[in-house]
Amino acid sequence: MRKEDSYLPGYLLGESYTVTREDFGDDFHWGVASCAFQTEGSPTSDGKGVSIWDRFTTKKRAILNGDKANYACDFYNLYRDDIQRINYLNFKAFRTSIAWTRILPTGRGLINTKGLDYYDRMIDFCLKCDVDPWLTLYHWDLPQALQDRGGWKNRDIISWFSDYVDKVTRKYGDRVKNWMVLNEPLVFTALGYLLGIHAPGLRGLSNFFPAVHHATMCQAAGGKIIRSNVKHSYIGTTFSCAPTFPYKETVRSLNAAKRADVVLNRLYIEPVLGMGYPSEDFKLLQGIESYMKAGDDLLLPFDFDFIGIQNYTREVITFSITQPYGWMKQVRACDRRVPVTEMGWEVYPPSIYLALKQFSNYEGVKAIIVTENGAAFKDTIENGKVYDKQRQSFIMENLEQIWRAKKEGVNVKGYFCWTLLDNFEWAEGFKPRFGLIHVNHKTQERIIKESGYWFKDFLSN
Ligand code: GCO
Repeated sequence: MRKEDSYLPGYLLGESYTVTREDFGDDFHWGVASCAFQTEGSPTSDGKGVSIWDRFTTKKRAILNGDKANYACDFYNLYRDDIQRINYLNFKAFRTSIAWTRILPTGRGLINTKGLDYYDRMIDFCLKCDVDPWLTLYHWDLPQALQDRGGWKNRDIISWFSDYVDKVTRKYGDRVKNWMVLNEPLVFTALGYLLGIHAPGLRGLSNFFPAVHHATMCQAAGGKIIRSNVKHSYIGTTFSCAPTFPYKETVRSLNAAKRADVVLNRLYIEPVLGMGYPSEDFKLLQGIESYMKAGDDLLLPFDFDFIGIQNYTREVITFSITQPYGWMKQVRACDRRVPVTEMGWEVYPPSIYLALKQFSNYEGVKAIIVTENGAAFKDTIENGKVYDKQRQSFIMENLEQIWRAKKEGVNVKGYFCWTLLDNFEWAEGFKPRFGLIHVNHKTQERIIKESGYWFKDFLSN
């Protein structure tokens, strides 16, 4: 197996693979991951309220090609067929999220029973198909009515979110045991509140810092509520992560890579583990601490049953005086002339191995689940089929690297492939296709890609 240095993907080398499902053991969770906003469509059906993403996608130039998620994959209406496809592909678990605005259209107050009923039906159908539902409580679609009150910047979000989590887990906790509190808090706070690329499109540290602290507070609060409401629960939360490498072996480059590591990999997990914010290693982040109130340090930790890590690539970082936030700059994959996915991300499967090692090094991390991993490539339909060799090779090489970590003693308990269906990729619209199933977003026709059939086969052994 190829290691970290000078990695070339297997599809360029014509490699064959040896790792099998059995290598991961019988108690390993195999699933596909998805999310409400990216797939459901039906933004106003059955009393649903407006979310920040419903609003953001109406803004000029916010989304590539002006794509809208009004229909997305029409999962809201087609969920039965798609859940049957999950079972057909031999996956035993389906991770998706609940849209807060279907349950509480304005974020708080009266429950919208029709919205509640939708997830009821969806959950029951999963169970009927022998697919275990894994639910994320927050995958970026904050109710717009709460954003109008400051959203993640407003400390009141801790009680709004707690109330929502309480209602949802009381309702579904009899059947749903696997819960994730947040999806990638770094991404929704950094892209949404610092860089303005995602909803709600805010910029600047004065938005970012309070959002970080309140998201971290909500993460622990949510975990506690699930634990008290759901018997035999298995509780996690999910973090984006990307091992960082210095571009050059200079002290300045090394230090820039370390600061990037603090932000990309350490910022959200360390407070959960009772270590506080890692601002010692990146002084700029001390700004977060000014939003802490007396006693908050005791409310930040929570002993999650598992930590979800979501990894797609690594980051190579250089020192740059022109960068306002920490003098660090990403050296893009295209400038390094390495193989890339349709997102422009370097194809670098050892990054998942390194991420697993890094996260498992923390005392207090009981188990890790890869709650997302996958790749977008340009797919073409030929005679009704999609031959996506690159995706298949990407997934297989990532599985090899996960197995490598597992053999070395990392307690990794599951793998969720991102994603079942080509869906709405946020600011990138419909262009990047991550699915194991091709979707024609005009006709909603589905075609299982070769990578999907390959996975079906892999899981059947
Ligand atoms: C994420 C999101 C997904 C993305 C995926 C590919 O966690 O970033 O969960 O919604 O679609 O990561 O970018």
